[in-house]
Amino acid sequence: MNSSPSQNTANKNRSYKIAVFGGDGIGPEVVREGLKVLSAVAPLEGFTYETTEYPFGSERYLETGELIPESVFDELRGFDAVYLGAIGDPRVEVGLVERAIIAGIRFKLDLYINLRPIKLYAENLCPLKDKKCSDIEMVFVRENTEGIYTAIGGIMKKDTPDEIAIAESIWTRKGCQRAIEYAFELARKRNKDKKVTLVDKANAIRAMDIWTRTFEEVGARYPDIKREHAYIDAACMWMIKNPEWFDVAVTDNMFGDIITDLGAMIQGGMGIAASGNIHPGRVSMFEPIHGSAPKYKDQNVASPVAAIMAVSMMLDHLGEESAAKRIETAMGDILRSGKIPSLDARSGVKTDQAGDMIADHVTEITAPA
Ligand code: IPM
Ligand code: MN
Repeated sequence: MNSSPSQNTANKNRSYKIAVFGGDGIGPEVVREGLKVLSAVAPLEGFTYETTEYPFGSERYLETGELIPESVFDELRGFDAVYLGAIGDPRVEVGLVERAIIAGIRFKLDLYINLRPIKLYAENLCPLKDKKCSDIEMVFVRENTEGIYTAIGGIMKKDTPDEIAIAESIWTRKGCQRAIEYAFELARKRNKDKKVTLVDKANAIRAMDIWTRTFEEVGARYPDIKREHAYIDAACMWMIKNPEWFDVAVTDNMFGDIITDLGAMIQGGMGIAASGNIHPGRVSMFEPIHGSAPKYKDQNVASPVAAIMAVSMMLDHLGEESAAKRIETAMGDILRSGKIPSLDARSGVKTDQAGDMIADHVTEITAPA
């Protein structure tokens, strides 16, 4: 993907242990296609892997009352990567299982970077007028362990007229700094504008000035990288008006969550956008950014492309750049060919057919030297 600094090049035996969480809704079916593509690419690139499936998700919670045992987080540290489909089910209290599993993995493994590339592969997929593929090629670095996601706060006097709800947003110097440093390193490595844009809201939320100041301090150590700044509201406007203006952007957890859904739409939809939850040098987790889309569960209509791109990001992180690139190229070719005309559930292409197309095409790609 040319988007994340590769981590595990020291792993010389090129044999990987991957923990798989299919999860809820369309999660298991899109993950199946991701694993299909992985199994096609591994022999071509000369690496091996083994997968271990974890059954946790809403179904299991409804059956057993168990969310995810603490011991699983320790086990995950023994893997090379985690691959996750989607979590969420309307039959369960809102956010309960997502917080336990997705946020649980992010926080407990300290996966402090949420890397979200936004790239247009085929012009016909873009809802914006007159935008070329080269206009939409950016990557968001979303801080992934702080902000308003820390669950500091609560509700008092619930369901009374005196009810009080508090959610505090936490930003630490260390948290801002490591996200910002990652963004500058990434901008240096990428072959684009050598630019990092900080997205915050320090005009209205004064405490967010910690981001602005840390950005200036860290940025001063990268004289070869340009610094830009945008408030989150303006950044949303720029994403639509002039997406070509972005190269690497770094932002807080919640703003990063929101603006990358917008980003997914300008690259063609939630059916293509993937993400890496990364702690450089440690086991990291890769997932599509879309949700579990319960209404499409088991209908074989969901786009598996985002889950396949998550495999590409995972391989890049593992140091298998050539395999990552091969998947990305195959996927881009298929999209430009029009064989997958859209990335929503109405594309007319079945989930498993889309997976087959990409898995077949990876064998036809010449690996980059
Ligand atoms: C995402 C999701 C999660 C988030 C939810 C499921 C907790 O929307 O990965 O973007 O808000 O981070
Ligand atoms: Mn989200």
